[in-house]
Order: sequence, then C-alpha cells, then structure tokens
Amino acid sequence: MLGCTGCLPSAASEPVRFTPSERAMILSHGPWPQQQGRDPSNRFSGNGAAIRFGRALFSDARLSAGGDMSCATCHRPDRAMTDGLPRARGEALLDRNTPPIANLADRRWYGWTGQADTLWGQSIRPLVNPMEMAAGPELLARRVIFSPDLARSYRRIVGRPPSAESPESILVNIGKMLSAWQETLVTPATPFDRFRDALARGEDVPADQFSASARRGLKFFVGEGRCSLCHFGPGFSNDEFHHIGLLHFVDGDRVDPGRHGGLDRYLRSPYTRAGPHSDEPPEAPPGHPEISSPVTRTTGAASGCRRCAMSPPPRRTCTTVRWPIWPRWWGTTTKSTWNVSMPPVKRCCGPWGLMRPGSGTWWTSCGP
Ligand code: HEC
Ligand code: HEC
Repeated sequence: MLGCTGCLPSAASEPVRFTPSERAMILSHGPWPQQQGRDPSNRFSGNGAAIRFGRALFSDARLSAGGDMSCATCHRPDRAMTDGLPRARGEALLDRNTPPIANLADRRWYGWTGQADTLWGQSIRPLVNPMEMAAGPELLARRVIFSPDLARSYRRIVGRPPSAESPESILVNIGKMLSAWQETLVTPATPFDRFRDALARGEDVPADQFSASARRGLKFFVGEGRCSLCHFGPGFSNDEFHHIGLLHFVDGDRVDPGRHGGLDRYLRSPYTRAGPHSDEPPEAPPGHPEISSPVTRTTGAASGCRRCAMSPPPRRTCTTVRWPIWPRWWGTTTKSTWNVSMPPVKRCCGPWGLMRPGSGTWWTSCGP
C-alpha cells in the first residue's frame, strides 16, 4: 500500500500471547452453556406443558388490553427477541429499549433497573403496565376464562379451571408459564467459547476459527480494557448496576431515576422471590442488606454481553458514549483513570468474537 508496507505496525501480525492472569480471566468466562437449575420460586419451571403454553402465550395478543399486542410485538423472534428501536413502543413510548430474551435463568435481577428478582415477576410487568400491554388482572382473567383454548390449557397445567381462581392467581400463573418458556432460551456456544475450551485443555484453535484480531480484542477485554470487571463470568455480566456515563435525562428535562427507581419498584412489588406468590421463598427473605450496588445514578445492569450482538441501538449504544471505567469500586466518587471509546454497535462484539453467531442461528440483527 502506497509502497510503504514497512509502515504497518508489526504488532498486528505477531501472535497474541496471554499472560497467566489473562488466561485465568479468559477461562472464567466459561464454560458455556452453563448448567441451569430449576427456578424454585416458579412451580412451572421445567414443566414441559407449561413451557409449550408459555411459548404460545408469548405471541398471543389476547393478553393485551387492545388485543393487538403480544410480548413478541417487542421481543420479536425475527429480530433477536428485540424490536431494534432506541425506545420501545407499547401503549405509550417507553423510556428504555427492549432487551433480548435469552440467558435469563438464574439471574439475580431483571430489567434495566433491576425492578424484579424473578423472571415471572418481570414477565407480569408488561401485562399490567398501562404503558405496555395494559391488560391488568381483571381483564386478563376474563380473556383466559372466556377463551376456550386458553382455559383448557390453563386447567390442564394448573389443575383447576381459571374460573375457580382469582384474577391475581391467574396473572401470576400466566407470568410463571411465560417464564418457564423464556428460561429455556439459551444462546449457543460461540467461537469464543470454543477458543476458551481449547485454552482450558492447553490447546489452540486455528486462526480461521478465532482470528488474530479477535485475540487482540480479547486480550484488551480481559486486560487493559478492564471490561471483565463488569462483564465477567460465563454470562459476561456481574448482574449489577453501573453508571456508565449515559445522560440521566429523558426527553430533555425528565430525570431517569435509574437503579433507585428499580429498587423502589422492587421493594413495593408482591411478585418477588420472598413475596406471597413465590412457590419457595428463601428462608431468610432478602431485605435491604441483600441489595447491593448502592451507586448513584445507575443506568442499567451490566448487560450480559453474551447477548450483545442481539441488542438494539441506543439508549445504551456503544457508538456515542465514552465509557468511564472506574478502576476499583463503582460507587465511590473517585472517577475514572481513563476513558475507553467504544467501537460502533455493529462491531461491538465482532472484534473479539463474543457473539459472532454461527450460521443458521436465530439472532441475526446487530443493530444498524
Ligand atoms: C412495548 C414493548 C414490550 C412488550 C409488549 C413486552 N416487553 Fe418485555 N421488555 C420491554 C422493555 C422496554 C424492557 C426493559 C424494561 C426496563 O427494565 O426498563 C423489557 C424487559 C423484559 C424482560 C427483562 C429482560 C432482562 O434482560 O432483564 C423480560 C423477561 C421481558 N421483558 C419479558 C416480556 C414478556 C414475557 C412480555 C409479554 C407478557 C413482554 N416482555 C412484553 C419491552 C416490551
Ligand atoms: C463499570 C462497569 C462496566 C465496564 C468496566 C464495562 N462495561 Fe460494558 N456495559 C456496562 C453496563 C452497565 C452495560 C449496559 C448498560 C446499558 O446499556 O444501559 C454495558 C453494556 C455493554 C455492551 C452492550 C451489550 C448489550 O447487550 O447491548 C457492550 C458491547 C459492552 N458493554 C462492552 C464493553 C467493553 C468492550 C468494555 C471494556 C472496554 C466494557 N463494556 C466495560 C458496564 C460496564
């Protein structure tokens, strides 16, 4: 190129080597998929009939007030279980975008602000939220009771006809069946996972299966970039909340309460692990000490980067944001030692191959 081959940085062609601590960090991001336990708070977890019904319910518009919107309207199967929009639109415009539905079992918090600690509790929210599907318990109960197919399946799985149940129980059971299905959606192993497993065995994989640039990205991710501090473990998330430098104003002047709003909702919700609808509340109900991350102005759970190629563009895009990296403990006031500017969304995951899906997988969109 321009007769200046020697000008190209030679580092690009040198094999990437990992230090022992980088190797240990890489290994900690797997194996994948993880063994998945039953959700003790959901009696339908792992129940085949409930999973099938939950799957059907997910795209059933009768669960919305207007009869024109289902979970799948926003969590679109043809769009990696999101809608690709910067902000989701239900009965009204929501403040945040639609996260993909995958790898949701065994999580500690759900939603961008952690407003739920159960997947079924999180699944109930859009059913009742006036800005989303807006059905509410009474209307939903009527729909289930008076739709013969729904009533039949419900009775088969629950053991009682819906007409013998309170609207609140119907709402909770529908949430739990939706959850039973969603739990089963797990992203398959990626080229990164094959590389990581080979590393664990003391082997290497050929460069065409995990390129030199992917290795450089990985080295940065677990090393200098410190990404693993928040995106750690097999799910690439610490499942906690961080202020990542996004503006906390919505529509100009309205403050987004972030994690504080989520905690507030969580503490008032009856649909929690320790709440009255849980099938196996933990022995010591989680109180305030259980709740971690007392950070101010948090914007979202450290997203499980396993799903990142599936995520839609802003409000949490990597394109425009400079991500402050706190070196030690998020929530202290000592701000960043350095900023890392992120690659555009489309290539967010590409360089290090985390989510570069194999062919024929069901998430194909990677944001515009
Ligand atoms: C109007 C669009 C819309 C509809 C309809 C919708 N969702 Fe969502 N969903 C969202 C948005 C937006 C969020 C993020 C909410 C937040 O935390 O601020 C979300 C979050 C979730 C999450 C949390 C995922 C995570 O990573 O923590 C689950 C689970 C979920 N939705 C399931 C459902 C189910 C089940 C239904 C149907 C009963 C449904 N959604 C209907 C837009 C929608
Ligand atoms: C301080 C904790 C923290 C650090 C360090 C961090 N992230 Fe994140 N990351 C987050 C949070 C929180 C989110 C989700 C935020 C949101 O979208 O509102 C996120 C989201 C992402 C996403 C989008 C994932 C998705 O599902 O859409 C990518 C990609 C990403 N981070 C990559 C990186 C990379 C690369 C680094 C290192 C250079 C890094 N992150 C360092 C906290 C962190």
